[in-house]
Amino acid sequence: MAIEIIATGRAVPPNKVTNEDLAERIDTTDEWIRSHTGIGARHVAASGIACSDLSLEAAREALNAAAQGGKGSPEELAQSLDLIILGTTTPDYLGVPPTACLVQDKLGAKNAGALDIAAACTGFIYGLELAAAFLMVNKDRKRALVIGTDVLSRIVNWDDRGTAVLFGDGSGAVLIEKTDAPAGGPGGRGLVRTILKADGSGAESLIIRQGGSRNPFKAGDVVAIPPYLEMNGHAVYTFAVKALTGIIERLLKEEGITIGDVARIIPHQANARIVQAAGKRLGIPEDKFFLNIEEYANTSAASIPIALDELNRAGKLKKGDLLMTVGFGGGLTYGGNLIIW
Ligand code: COA
Repeated sequence: MAIEIIATGRAVPPNKVTNEDLAERIDTTDEWIRSHTGIGARHVAASGIACSDLSLEAAREALNAAAQGGKGSPEELAQSLDLIILGTTTPDYLGVPPTACLVQDKLGAKNAGALDIAAACTGFIYGLELAAAFLMVNKDRKRALVIGTDVLSRIVNWDDRGTAVLFGDGSGAVLIEKTDAPAGGPGGRGLVRTILKADGSGAESLIIRQGGSRNPFKAGDVVAIPPYLEMNGHAVYTFAVKALTGIIERLLKEEGITIGDVARIIPHQANARIVQAAGKRLGIPEDKFFLNIEEYANTSAASIPIALDELNRAGKLKKGDLLMTVGFGGGLTYGGNLIIW
């Protein structure tokens, strides 16, 4: 049996903020941002648009695509879902209710369980494996939606040039289905291997200190600026290059393949230089990596499913292509998936 991605969708807010726009309010330049990160712009959600709104849009796109592929109407597909799993760092509400439940309700997925997972930018990679395992352990389960969504614009300190330039908002979703195809080997399909890792010793490298149970808000607190993401850029950079190279090497070794067998690597889009450094270390040609960071910046858990949807809708993924996702993020978490398209 295989776990196949049968449809994809994405939602990116229309409001595009260019590097030049940012340079008007903070001490930065388009040249610095491009040369240090590869980022040219980011999309920022309008006020009133939250994680569940973007997630719902991406989920509906995925269901519509599956419906066009002859899998039933979007409503039937929603009702056929066994699980909705949403990777996010920026849920609608702090902890309760899970944002996935808001999506479940609006989608009409009345037979699905729904939960959020907090694996930061690695959320989609984690979510895909967890959803696949959920389908595999019970013969009656067949379909799940895996969504990665972040509205990082809400937790970025827009006065801090060290982080403000890096992030953007968006959502990506994939519909997965358990099928009778073989999971690996000749003619194999779907998710063939995943590595999920964590290194909590780096927890403070990416952190939102306020608002959780460690530093809760108390009545009478005066908040100068809202809770925001603090980052040790150098620590994350060093970790990220090591994480990417390690995961790529391990996935290849465990699967007994070489980089030549992989059609495309779809990395988490945090910084083009991180991806280039990892590629250089491993001797992998740059064009093996798909990068769309110039348009979207780092959309955290959304970056890989947005990239998958872009490639898919542009007809750039061929049936049978071996794809590798690889990513890292707060936690610190890291990992990767091997998927036969
Ligand atoms: N515009 C202009 N100058 C900036 C700047 C900006 N947006 N941000 C930092 N600088 C300045 C610094 O103040 C510093 O100036 P100084 O030399 O006068 O002190 C100089 O540029 C170099 O800063 P540095 O932090 O050494 O730059 P860097 O080359 O390490 O790049 C990051 C910084 C953040 C781009 C890089 O460390 C990085 O990408 N880290 C990983 C971040 C990440 O991926 N986070 C998400 C993980 S999911």
